[in-house]
Amino acid sequence: MYAEKVLSGMRPTGRLHLGHYHGVLANWIKLQHEYPCLFFAADWHALTTAYDEPGTITQNTWDMIVDWLAAGVDPSQATLFIQSRVPEHAELHLLMSMMTPLGWLERVPTYKDQQEKLSHKDLTTYGFLGYPLLMSADILIYRADKVPVGEDQIPHIEFTRELARRFNHMYGREPGFEEKARESVKKLGSKRAKLYEELRTRFQEKGEEEALEQAKALLNETQNLSLGDKERLFGYLEGGGKMILVEPGALLTEASRMPGLDGQKMSKSYGNTIALREDEDSIRKKIRTMQTDPARVRRTDPGDPDKCPVWQFHLIYSNGEVREWVQAGCRSAGIGCIECKQPVIEAVLKEQEPMRERARMYEEDPQLVRNIIADGCEKARKLAQETMRDVREAIGLDYG
Ligand code: TRP
Ligand code: SF4
Repeated sequence: MYAEKVLSGMRPTGRLHLGHYHGVLANWIKLQHEYPCLFFAADWHALTTAYDEPGTITQNTWDMIVDWLAAGVDPSQATLFIQSRVPEHAELHLLMSMMTPLGWLERVPTYKDQQEKLSHKDLTTYGFLGYPLLMSADILIYRADKVPVGEDQIPHIEFTRELARRFNHMYGREPGFEEKARESVKKLGSKRAKLYEELRTRFQEKGEEEALEQAKALLNETQNLSLGDKERLFGYLEGGGKMILVEPGALLTEASRMPGLDGQKMSKSYGNTIALREDEDSIRKKIRTMQTDPARVRRTDPGDPDKCPVWQFHLIYSNGEVREWVQAGCRSAGIGCIECKQPVIEAVLKEQEPMRERARMYEEDPQLVRNIIADGCEKARKLAQETMRDVREAIGLDYG
């Protein structure tokens, strides 16, 4: 139950581009080989800002999921699902809303930032204020301990940790916890019990995180311990109560190094993107016409790669040899810009070849995608329902 687990969500904004690929998706694809992973389309989150124009959300969701699959997110390794198809997220969101101080939500930096950024829109809504809380529910409901996010989302993870702590503190206590915990320790067997006590003391008295990790590993390795005992022992390690919700940690996703066609950050709102499923001719044309060093007006003018967006592409796509060729050829006017762009065009097309292949399969048979998602939703729901059972019980809302 406390095994390492990765969870991440993406708001469905439509077709993805190379910026998404070189940032988030490449990271997901790497993680799916390392941990059990859950990846989902955060369609309710899209609704917090697009509540007045929800018409495109479902199509955007499907388009985005096809792009995940095309990019190489592998449904046999990772669980893929859609947030709104797992309604337990909403139940946890509601229950936690009862104990979430308003001030905590108002203090989350994205709240004011986004309101200012999207000032044409009325975002003084209940749902928008609750955005971080919904995100917390997404994470806590899977007891995920690793959440890959971009830098802007780090405060949301911090908020989630605080909420989990508050929840465990409020509802995690059972009468006679200490005594019960000591009974549970005995069940570890004398050798393990001694080690557990030692590690617990080291963590509690000296704050040694490593001791905590070791103790958790010890519990995870211990067979034939009942779930109740295990939970109690996890809780006993860190404090007084039973650990019902797991505090997650952020796995910072490095910002994509992929610039847009104009050298600014690649972003749909700047109109400088190359999509993941874009037709080959359109890619050729976009790169052929992309900006170069403005000082290089004529073919005979020498240029400076440092002032050219094409060079940024070479840094991502080209090996040392090609880069040297660019540096020397550009500065001496030995090569022309069209010539210089050719290896970039080829590299981008080559990178997209397997994506195009996979995308074709899913476009031709949309039922494939539906099945992958139905399967993922079912798996996710099972996990979510398990947590909800414990949550309801902890709060005392179980009617048997
Ligand atoms: N808020 C995230 C974003 O805008 C998307 C998201 C929603 C998410 N729920 C999540 C990310 C849970 C990680 C975990 O990028
Ligand atoms: Fe840019 Fe290459 Fe032209 Fe130099 S030669 S300005 S690096 S496109």
